Amino acid sequence: VRYRTLGTDGPQVSVVGFGAMNLTPVYGGVEEDDAAETLLAALDAGVTFVDTADIYGAGSSEALIGRMLEKRRDEYVLATKFGGNQDAEGILVPGMGRPEYIRRALDASLARLRTDHVDLYYLHRLDPSTPIEETAGALGELVAEGKIGGYGLSEVSARTLRRAHAVHPVTALQTEYSPFQRAPERELIPACAELGVAFVAYSPLGRGLLGGQVRGFDDLEAGDWRRGNPRFQAGNVERNVSLADRVATLAAEQGVTTAQLVLAWLVHRGALPIPGTRKAANARANAAAGGVTLDAAVFERLEETVPPDAVAGAQGSDAYLANLDTE
Ligand code: ATR
Repeated sequence: VRYRTLGTDGPQVSVVGFGAMNLTPVYGGVEEDDAAETLLAALDAGVTFVDTADIYGAGSSEALIGRMLEKRRDEYVLATKFGGNQDAEGILVPGMGRPEYIRRALDASLARLRTDHVDLYYLHRLDPSTPIEETAGALGELVAEGKIGGYGLSEVSARTLRRAHAVHPVTALQTEYSPFQRAPERELIPACAELGVAFVAYSPLGRGLLGGQVRGFDDLEAGDWRRGNPRFQAGNVERNVSLADRVATLAAEQGVTTAQLVLAWLVHRGALPIPGTRKAANARANAAAGGVTLDAAVFERLEETVPPDAVAGAQGSDAYLANLDTE
């Protein structure tokens, strides 16, 4: 496992983090005991960067972390998010970028997490009803008060990032990034490098497509969120699985798993991937990917195997896309 400074002056974090959304029933059901074991397995394998959000499992992801890790609070860097609540149509609830909302949301997260501070506090989605400067100002105050170590933004444009950064320096920017989602390479990753903002990659395994366990739509349980994602629809999913199979061949040649090759590529690119899993064995394997070193030529072959925009299907449903700040 390797470690890296978060942003310019943040804490050290393991290059591969742990995404705690999967500890709640979003990509299939999960027993609480298994979720707890998986979380502990990640930490025991050297992961020191835990990522959650208030909306994951309606607070149950944060509550599990609070219960399991209260006594180990100084062993890891804790990131959570606010501002992602949606109505029944999937439209963001307005007003979640306002200072008074942020304070209330943070206090609720701290109570569930059983701690007095989070190390990184993200705006989950841009609030179209609040200028980003107002949100950034409120988050800067929370930094000054010591309730958060730094703040982050998720799924915002480079322009929004720059506007926020001008008010108070941004610690981390998080978006979907994987061989199946290369768009951040155009503007966002260069902007992060220029500003000294850490770049965190969610869905680094293409929501499981690059893990090799999902072979078709019928592999998804009833209620699995991915049933509504275009990349998993019949017609698209087969094409994406065949791309993943080609990555698997390359990975096997190198003596690593597909997931490990992909995570190592993301780290090579300067990103901090936060894969999610319900399984302790996968958590250990993903942590170990942080120690995998491969020749740059292997990563070039990966990029040839999955060219940008090779993936079939949009990143998300229309409602999902509508909540992204792509301007
Ligand atoms: P997200 O960030 O959206 O959670 P992701 O990290 O790209 O998405 O992918 C998560 C999916 O990859 C999960 O469905 C997980 O399946 P399990 O819960 O069954 O493990 C799968 N996954 C995670 N790590 C994996 C690994 N090492 N090998 C194979 N599949 C893995």
